[in-house]
Amino acid sequence: MSQVERGMSQVDDLTAGVQEILIDEATLQGRIRELGAEIAEDYRGRDLLLIGVLKGAVFFMADLMRQLDIPCEVDFMAISSYGAGIDSSGVVRILKDLDVSIEDRNVLVVEDIVDSGLTLSYLLRNLEARRPTSLEVCALLTKPERRENDVPCRYIGFEIPNRFVIGYGLDFAERYRNLPYIGVLREELVAQAEA
Ligand code: IMP
Repeated sequence: MSQVERGMSQVDDLTAGVQEILIDEATLQGRIRELGAEIAEDYRGRDLLLIGVLKGAVFFMADLMRQLDIPCEVDFMAISSYGAGIDSSGVVRILKDLDVSIEDRNVLVVEDIVDSGLTLSYLLRNLEARRPTSLEVCALLTKPERRENDVPCRYIGFEIPNRFVIGYGLDFAERYRNLPYIGVLREELVAQAEA
């Protein structure tokens, strides 16, 4: 395939960037049902506010919420992440803050993936300062090999190897979020991003 054809296929074909499927749709949804049941039991009888981290956590948040058979509220924050590359800078900026106060509330942060942990550790320090009653994290994916900051994740969907993944909300240069599964990004695209 020529460079031009490969470029076109990335525009036309959503699956062109996928090296392999790491977690299929049924496995994802099965684990999210289990997480939902666990979280509902833990928070039954308490007021629960879910905080989603945009944009990656949107799909996970939507599916997880529907598995909770207890009342809950939802809010979103946007923080700067990798941009077009694939490595965390450690410099985190709040692009959109919460609409509500979290003082005296039970807060559960819903994250797509914890990689180095730099983003989450910044976020937790920031939220802790707002005096919630409790503050916990539910991350769909973690890459334990990459962890630089020891961030406490109470609920974890899957531990995955140190590979760049896309789909189900996760992007590479803003693309591929709409894949219904978690896939590994094709190696030549990882190389391009690192160049
Ligand atoms: P950390 O600060 O290194 O933990 O990076 C956290 C953020 O980087 C996540 O919320 C994602 O937005 C992004 N990220 C980390 N690893 C991946 C990946 O494999 N695919 C897509 N995005 C990722």
